Amino acid sequence: MSHAVIGASSASKALAHSNIALAKYWGKRDLARNLPDVPSLSMTLAALCTVTSVRFDPEASADHFVLNGSAQLPSASAKVYALLDRVRQRAGIEQRAVVESSNDFPTASGLASSASGFAALALAATAAAGLQLTSAELSELARSASVSAGRSIHGGFVALEAGAESAEVLEVGPLAKELVMVVAVTDPGPKAVGSTSAMQLTQQSSPYYSSFREHAPAAYREVRAALLASDLERLGAAMEHSTLLMHACMLAAQPPLLYWSGATVSALRCVQELRRAGTIAFFTIDAGPHVKVLTRASDSPRVSAALQSVPGVQRLIVSGVGGPARQLEAP
Ligand code: PMV
Repeated sequence: MSHAVIGASSASKALAHSNIALAKYWGKRDLARNLPDVPSLSMTLAALCTVTSVRFDPEASADHFVLNGSAQLPSASAKVYALLDRVRQRAGIEQRAVVESSNDFPTASGLASSASGFAALALAATAAAGLQLTSAELSELARSASVSAGRSIHGGFVALEAGAESAEVLEVGPLAKELVMVVAVTDPGPKAVGSTSAMQLTQQSSPYYSSFREHAPAAYREVRAALLASDLERLGAAMEHSTLLMHACMLAAQPPLLYWSGATVSALRCVQELRRAGTIAFFTIDAGPHVKVLTRASDSPRVSAALQSVPGVQRLIVSGVGGPARQLEAP
């Protein structure tokens, strides 16, 4: 193994955008290797970012992880430490690291903070360790911590096949440039169950998991084909189907996984109402109570105005398509 030389430049800072799956992944093919059971396709979001700095410190006796200004307990940092271990092993170094990460949006609430967080960490940690990885290798490293993070290494529209190690950027039609996601941040509702344990619970106890696993690839292929054909109605219908397939199989877990609050349902109804009145807009929902609405930039003021008046919607974030994870000037 080639050992990376680290010295004065053993610190690095990186920014990654969050992403929202238009075709959902839920469930692991291989839990130990963190490989997804179904294919997924996401849009990288320009407006939701994580900035992470990593410094390998010869004086430190343990890794330290600070999230949004608060030092995290080792019990809440296991995935961060595991990613750092992989980087150390690859670079042939022993030094412990200080990781500081901050999100410009609510953390761990179904807004994919783990996607942007682990993508930024993968890039900052490898750069700080003196490694230069390809984007496929970075995607694989980020995916080993959080499957959706494998997609956040890339910008634009990104696919991750079932059982795949890394994600890839997709060719898309001209519609892709016009798309925005209007994120309706709702009241938090019941505390969300973390995605890894929720997936395990679903796989072990939901009688509908096998059905989800069977039908998710077709929803993915339809989303992908519609994106390539620049057909928003087709894309939106397939995206909503993918979301509802996933939530239906979660609801049938024992105990059930109900991530929706009253505001989630009201926002979803608002989108259906907008559509009936002629505005082309579609919803998607992840493992949290927020509703994300896909529409054209030209329709987003109308969509935002309608969502704004939904009881329980606390704020809106309108995001265009984001770029790939990138290094920032070292701290
Ligand atoms: O990658 P994770 O473990 O954060 O799980 C993401 C799961 C969903 O957001 C619900 C779907 C997806 O494909 O992003």
